[in-house]
Amino acid sequence: MSGVKYARSEMLYEGKAKRLYATDDPEVVLVEYKDSFTAFNGEKRAEMSGKGRLNNLISSRIFEYLAKNDVPLHFIERVDELRQLAVRVRILPLEVVVRNITTGSIVKRLGAEEGRRLPRPLLELYYKDDALGDPIVTEDHALIFGWASEEDLSEIKGITLRVNGLLKDLFAPLGVVLVDFKLEFGRDSRGALLLADEISPDTCRFWDSSTGDRLDKDRFRKDLGDVLGAYEEIWRRLSGRDG
Ligand code: TMP
Ligand code: ASP
Repeated sequence: MSGVKYARSEMLYEGKAKRLYATDDPEVVLVEYKDSFTAFNGEKRAEMSGKGRLNNLISSRIFEYLAKNDVPLHFIERVDELRQLAVRVRILPLEVVVRNITTGSIVKRLGAEEGRRLPRPLLELYYKDDALGDPIVTEDHALIFGWASEEDLSEIKGITLRVNGLLKDLFAPLGVVLVDFKLEFGRDSRGALLLADEISPDTCRFWDSSTGDRLDKDRFRKDLGDVLGAYEEIWRRLSGRDG
């Protein structure tokens, strides 16, 4: 245990899927996962009891695995079914997406064929701004507008591609194809770059490797039904037991 007192206190921030609370340690925040689903920049919403628990369990388990593989993380430890402790960071306004297989916005935007395995991982940057609908940007935008430095971008790309390999290795034996995912990064009080936010079926696309079933938030986005069943299934496979 970290020894930090995490008695719930001042709420620092409420996002679409999580709330952040201050702790007694100014460098540490308590992250609480909510039962809310949102998609299409918050246009579509729903509450589903048990969603916060599953994303907290899944995200914590993935972060524990990445920590063992020396990925620099804001995650400290899972506290209980809904909450985890994390290093307080200033989030860079970039969403970093990796695609292994074409689906989602790249099909809409570029007319790419659906479900095509790409010859190598495709890394994209989006400017994190809800009002603008998180537009896709280039590295030059990030540099010129000061969202990240050259060093940040090279570190971010290195970590992101490593995480892609690690996640593929984690999920392949579980019969899950890692189609694509989104990462966010932050900087701690000493300026170190840390992988932040969450890694869950909200932020990844997972396809069952034998049936092709969608085991992620696309079930909510596209009204495919049994949304929580899919999250439950990811947790069941990750934990090796029933959730
Ligand atoms: P996209 O195909 O809609 O651009 O999504 C690519 C990946 O990024 C997919 O795994 C879902 C994830 N994602 C988020 O985590 N948050 C978002 O706001 C969006 C648009 C996508
Ligand atoms: N995360 C975004 C939203 O909540 C979009 C998405 O994931 O589809 O609106």
